[in-house]
Amino acid sequence: MATPIKIAGISGSLRKDSYNTKLIRAAGEMAPEGVQVQLITLHDIPLFNTDVEAQGWPQPVVKLRAELNDADAVLFATPEYNYSVPGLLKNAIDWLSRPEGSAPVNGKPVAIIGASTSLIGTARAQSHLRQIAFYNAMPLLPSAEFVMGRAADKFDAEGHLTDEKSRDKLASLMTKFANWIRLTKDA
Ligand SMILES: Cc1cc2nc3c(=O)[nH]c(=O)nc-3n(C[C@H](O)[C@H](O)[C@H](O)COP(=O)(O)O)c2cc1C
Repeated sequence: MATPIKIAGISGSLRKDSYNTKLIRAAGEMAPEGVQVQLITLHDIPLFNTDVEAQGWPQPVVKLRAELNDADAVLFATPEYNYSVPGLLKNAIDWLSRPEGSAPVNGKPVAIIGASTSLIGTARAQSHLRQIAFYNAMPLLPSAEFVMGRAADKFDAEGHLTDEKSRDKLASLMTKFANWIRLTKDA
């Protein structure tokens, strides 16, 4: 049997009907056998502040850091806000990037996906997120992209991903990701 894998699936949106949160759910449903995707939302994460950090991690940050430490890999689903990553996602990564050099994100394999209601669909935000991952020494799943535009047309009323092309692409990315995580674990 293949080694079980746990992926922390972080949604970059707080919205109740977020397409990115739905994407993380869909990724979990489509992941190959033995791969668990835990949905993580960032509702309670305070704004990063080194004064607060100096007094100790706030409880929601402790929980988030533990969830990351417990995971073999990270899957980010990012919206695009003003051509970039939403502030709340960057803020969470700032907490997860401390202490520099031995932080929960350091060395954690990562894949990036994203959904937007516009045509281009998060390509620019994903590009910025790749730079953030690079600085944090997160090995990035190579040669795999998932960029969803016109997200409103691709889910049904219950929030299930119904667009066939998107389903195939996401399933293929999840298989690639799982195989690659296993390679990095065995290395
Ligand atoms: C403040 C703001 C800025 C946005 N900027 C962009 C943008 O630059 N590019 C884009 O494709 N969509 C942009 N959008 C549209 C979002 O991608 C869209 O609302 C998306 O559904 C948000 O993700 P969610 O469904 O996961 O909440 C923006 C939306 C907001 C609220």
